[in-house]
Amino acid sequence: GLVNLWAMNSTFFMCKPDAVERGLIGEIIRRIEATGLKIVRAELRVVDEATAKAHYAEHEGKPFFGELISFITSSPVFVTEISGPDGTWEIVRKLMGKTNPAEAAPGTIRGDLATSISANLVHGSDSADSARRELANFFPVR
Ligand code: PPS
Repeated sequence: GLVNLWAMNSTFFMCKPDAVERGLIGEIIRRIEATGLKIVRAELRVVDEATAKAHYAEHEGKPFFGELISFITSSPVFVTEISGPDGTWEIVRKLMGKTNPAEAAPGTIRGDLATSISANLVHGSDSADSARRELANFFPVR
């Protein structure tokens, strides 16, 4: 099919606890699927502390680190692998909008649906290297 014409390239994308609690999984995933990108793996799960700390290791020591870990482990998240052409991570980041919803453009997920920097609905890998690392952390080969 069409998918085989692409150089396949995956990124990690997560609907955070606030998105799940607000019933926004469908709305968010709809926006991603509307671009033509494919959800190739997805699971609703509670993230354990070790996985959360590995995921956010680069932010260890920052004032918001504790809050970030307790938030992300507080209730179920919707973790996904999204597949598409080269630079899929960038397409997803563009759809998400800036980290701070106050700076996120209208038309983006955060610009349209979020108001708080700590509860900003979604996470997406910020590079191809991050995508590989984050996918391996959340979807280890068993
Ligand atoms: S930094 O310091 O610029 O690298 O941080 P930033 O990219 O802005 O944010 C990294 C992630 O931390 C979350 N964040 C916060 N959580 C709670 N409280 C505060 N004040 C806060 N500031 C930033 C932010 O949503 C980012 O989460 P992810 O999941 O990576 O989008």
